[in-house]
Amino acid sequence: MSLQDKTVLIGITGGIAAYKICELIRKFQKAGAKTRVVCTPNALNFVTKLTLQNLSKNQVFVDEFNPKDWKPEHISFADEADIMVIAPATANTISKIANGIADNLLTSIACAFSKQIIIAPAMNCNMWQNIAVQENISKLKSRGVEFLEPETGFLACGYSGKGRLCSIDKIFNAAVESLNFSQKLAGKNVVITSGGTIEEIDPVRYISNYSSGKMGFALANSAKKMGANVTLITTKPIEAPFKTVKVKSAIQMQNALDEEFETADIIIMAAAVADYRVKNYSEQKLKKTSEDEITLQLVKNPDILKELCQKRGDRKKIIAGFCAESENLVENAKEKIAKKGCDFLVANDISRKDIGFSSDDNEVTILDKNGGIKKLEKASKSVIATKILEHIANE
Ligand code: PMT
Repeated sequence: MSLQDKTVLIGITGGIAAYKICELIRKFQKAGAKTRVVCTPNALNFVTKLTLQNLSKNQVFVDEFNPKDWKPEHISFADEADIMVIAPATANTISKIANGIADNLLTSIACAFSKQIIIAPAMNCNMWQNIAVQENISKLKSRGVEFLEPETGFLACGYSGKGRLCSIDKIFNAAVESLNFSQKLAGKNVVITSGGTIEEIDPVRYISNYSSGKMGFALANSAKKMGANVTLITTKPIEAPFKTVKVKSAIQMQNALDEEFETADIIIMAAAVADYRVKNYSEQKLKKTSEDEITLQLVKNPDILKELCQKRGDRKKIIAGFCAESENLVENAKEKIAKKGCDFLVANDISRKDIGFSSDDNEVTILDKNGGIKKLEKASKSVIATKILEHIANE
């Protein structure tokens, strides 16, 4: 994997795993990247400046008030680098960055950095679980910072639990993946739906399904990285580095899609939409009766995907759906793509526990309107999402 012409800015903070970053720097160097290392003062308690300088083939910076050029380092480093990787990241540094605190060179660069930041935390397991730390991580995630979760195991502090720095390979691969993101969707308006719709029965009960919204979120994230203007219409509450529209029912989802339809270049319906809704919503909580059985009357929801495909006529918009099948995956998907009239249909096997609903991984088969079939082997939903988008963008 060549990283020629790429500059990787590596931020090291004061944790015992700092010594492992020597190997990460070597990997970036071997891949041809220019490496620039910035340390917090405490990082140098765990690894020497001389080692880092030798490995990175560059001067290592710690002090913000030591300018070598007219431009302050926190600005020039932020301008020069294509990606910033902070590893190991302590609870302290994560929390400062989340709150815009720029009290050393590393946190100042992070504050001024407008491209992708990847953070690989490492800390004591109780610190990792601390609510303030987790809230700060959520804040950063919602702004597009990518987190590589720590692993569980024996910790240097003597505890055993979640807090070990993830593998150097994982950090390297995540950076490579991010640096190699194609910009195939640059300037495109991409609208994605996610989550299971909620069809209310009364103020207390509802009908829904097991969709967690993870697949749709992964698609939205990857589309954003590929340069798209993303709108995610979702039933799940999330903070995200792109526009989100929160909806509950299929009807609300359809209304939100109608709002976005005219300007959308690509629409991907990953949401699990209820085919039926309750005929008579009860404003008051339904009371238990003396009957052993009661009947709930349902009416058909609009087939949103099908209607969107009809509405587009011969306008140049790409429309893709997903389908969740528990048997005869490809045969059922073939029937569905013909019925709905969409350009692509991504088929999921929901009979498996390790993929599909709620899991972090997926394995899908993409059908296209011309009869083409492409299987994507099991991978994380974010990898699958990128591959789906690349396939669609090649249309
Ligand atoms: O959210 P996750 O936990 O990550 O799980 C992902 C997923 C399994 C939910 C997702 O990848 C998926 O398969 N979504 C589609 C589920 C679904 O509704 O399948 P379906 O076969 O019932 O519908 C086919 C397509 O028609 C879908 O694009 C759906 O959004 C759309 N549809 C369905 C019914 C309806 N009334 N209107 C629609 O537009």
